[in-house]
Amino acid sequence: MRVAIFASGNGTNFEALADDKRLLESGLEIVVLVCDKPKAKVIKKAQDRNIPVFVNKLSDYENRSQYEQAIVEKLAPLKIDYILLAGYMRVVTPTLLSQYPGKIINIHPSCLPKYSGLEAIERAFEAGENQTGVTIHYIDEGVDTGPVIRQAVVPILDTDTVDTLEARVHEKEHEIYPEVVLDLLKKFN
Ligand code: GAR
Repeated sequence: MRVAIFASGNGTNFEALADDKRLLESGLEIVVLVCDKPKAKVIKKAQDRNIPVFVNKLSDYENRSQYEQAIVEKLAPLKIDYILLAGYMRVVTPTLLSQYPGKIINIHPSCLPKYSGLEAIERAFEAGENQTGVTIHYIDEGVDTGPVIRQAVVPILDTDTVDTLEARVHEKEHEIYPEVVLDLLKKFN
């Protein structure tokens, strides 16, 4: 199964997927990293693993549609089966979505529909919630909407700071994103 991973930041989820031996043994091929931030740490993580990187900046285009059209053209010859968003901090529009219907998966650091959008962990913490979580879902044309594949709860402890909570949310992400992809591989093969 050939995938493109899209990421904008640190790339810890990228790493969790790229370094999971179960996924490689089950036929996962990470064909390209698509990154919209030229200075993102995830770029080096891909280069260190000999995974090709396509850096594509929105500001190089007149509009979002042209930006995504460049991605569509880059991916077309690569015969991508699925796109895995792993900390890709942009809304995907119909230009890309229409080319990969039902084939784009996102990870979000909350139990959607709660805390969609940016700074989900911070907002759950500030609101005094006693739990938050992680959602992995197929995307649709909305922001952090679309059919849920898997959700996991992360308790918010009295002793938590935003940083300790964020670390535990990430830990949960790194556990369940590879598991979801493993399930997908089993169905794909
Ligand atoms: C992750 O927590 C992911 O859930 C979140 O960005 C972080 C990326 O971390 N994604 C979103 O908020 C998407 N709306 P990483 O770069 O270390 O994988």
